[in-house]
Amino acid sequence: MSDCELHIICSKEQEMTQLYSTLANIYHEMYQHIFDYDKEFGFYDAILKRHNCQKILEVGCGSGMLARRFIDKGYDYLGVDLFNEMLEIARSEVQSDRFVQCDMRSLAFNEQFDAVLITGRSIAYVIENQGIHDTLSGVFKSLKNKGLFVFDVFEANGIFENFDDFEQNFDINDRKIKRVSKLKMNLATGWTYDWHAKYIIEQNGETTEYDDITTLRAFTKDEISLFLKLTGFKIKERIEEPKTFTIIAEKKF
Ligand SMILES: C[S@@+](CC[C@H](N)C(=O)[O-])C[C@H]1O[C@@H](n2cnc3c(N)ncnc32)[C@H](O)[C@@H]1O
Repeated sequence: MSDCELHIICSKEQEMTQLYSTLANIYHEMYQHIFDYDKEFGFYDAILKRHNCQKILEVGCGSGMLARRFIDKGYDYLGVDLFNEMLEIARSEVQSDRFVQCDMRSLAFNEQFDAVLITGRSIAYVIENQGIHDTLSGVFKSLKNKGLFVFDVFEANGIFENFDDFEQNFDINDRKIKRVSKLKMNLATGWTYDWHAKYIIEQNGETTEYDDITTLRAFTKDEISLFLKLTGFKIKERIEEPKTFTIIAEKKF
């Protein structure tokens, strides 16, 4: 299927982190050690089965780590992401053309899905109210009547009450990756914060460093409830973790 057939409107006007472009391969290696994709897949699979969803759209699909599992299990899958560098990895890892480049704020398809998932807290990169409203409105249009919307977000209390810098080290094949993360409040557009990350990568006796900065948004439960109410969704379930929560919502009509 081509992007053209899907009638997708895309844009990439917002300057963003290098993590999904210059560092896309590093992301792909590193996050297989950060996320437990088997567990995540099991979580979504159980929800989708419970609601008889077969035809699914994954928004912020990244390098395709969940996509592979969805496709292997027979789901009718389409993945979208803002960054072509991530999609290139996804296409080669999954050996599928079910990936298209698209900004989640401009979702527009000529087909409708049983369920839309925004995974891996990808909605954190949409930091303005208008962008969130546009994203949820696009999800609404992409769903069949009574379709399911499942997404996870950073929870504002959990994030700001434990607002600590952190360091991670990964030893992957012949690469050593160190990531030093510093967080700074930046309340310009909501419960937002700047994430400064220094990547130090050692390979074959050479060291390369990258300085990355991005702004992320956390949400209170009330904020998410209001956004969902205003865009035509009814919350069915909220699953809470210490710093995140997942919402299962239904398109109202
Ligand atoms: C933390 S990663 C999660 C990726 C994948 N879901 C996973 O679990 O590995 C966030 C993803 O959101 C994508 N992203 C960020 N802003 C986006 C936007 N406006 N529209 C679509 N995707 C976006 C990034 O390119 C990246 O792949």
